Amino acid sequence: MRTPLIAGNWKMNGSADLVGAFGRAFAEAELPDGLEVAIFPPFPYLESARRAFAGTPIDLGAQTLNPLHSGAHTGEVSGRMLCEFGVRYALVGHSERRQLYRESDEQVYDRLLAALSVDLVPVLCVGETLEERDAGRTMEVVLRQVGFVMSRLEPEQRSRVVIAYEPVWAIGTGRTATPEQAQEVMAAIRDYQASFDAELASAMRLLYGGSMNAGNAAELLSQPDIDGGLVGGASLKVDDFLAICQSAG
Ligand code: PGA
Repeated sequence: MRTPLIAGNWKMNGSADLVGAFGRAFAEAELPDGLEVAIFPPFPYLESARRAFAGTPIDLGAQTLNPLHSGAHTGEVSGRMLCEFGVRYALVGHSERRQLYRESDEQVYDRLLAALSVDLVPVLCVGETLEERDAGRTMEVVLRQVGFVMSRLEPEQRSRVVIAYEPVWAIGTGRTATPEQAQEVMAAIRDYQASFDAELASAMRLLYGGSMNAGNAAELLSQPDIDGGLVGGASLKVDDFLAICQSAG
């Protein structure tokens, strides 16, 4: 059995007030047994989030990290620093990083290695654009992104990675992939993993991301290869995010 994970990616949103509201709501919330929950706030909120989420089931995640531990890299944050703030997960390869900040597969791989080196759980994000889907290239693109990273890892490292499938055309658009579309790609990602190691493939956690909300989460999460969600917009509203968590039971 795979442990479900609902992860909220706040992106460059949120506030100190929102951190407090999540802390209060989740301190009282009844959540499905065994569910893991994480919030990925902007860096400046990590310390207040650590305090506000103590005593709640919410773990902390970071939205990116630099491949290096320290140095002359103005504006960057290292994995080692994130660990000092109790961070457990780190996103790598989010489509906004790939598109807006031109992160290549090599850079995504370097960041993922950096996360593993300090025992952060990397959440590797992959997904096709609408153009790629329309051209029938979804599987090729997604499996290239997955393969570039996974084929370079040792088996033990592979077992620590979470993969989030996020079709780019579904992110922030309100246009969710159908459960069948998401399941098809996510089954292919798991099959690809099985080419390395069948046991690892069946243990690997796969998240769906892209306009997941309180209304569509249950159906998506009921698919056999969907083990959780990476939630953007709906993770900025306490009630919606709580409802998504509750539908992961
Ligand atoms: P969204 O974002 O839920 O707002 O579509 C998901 C993500 O980018 O992780």
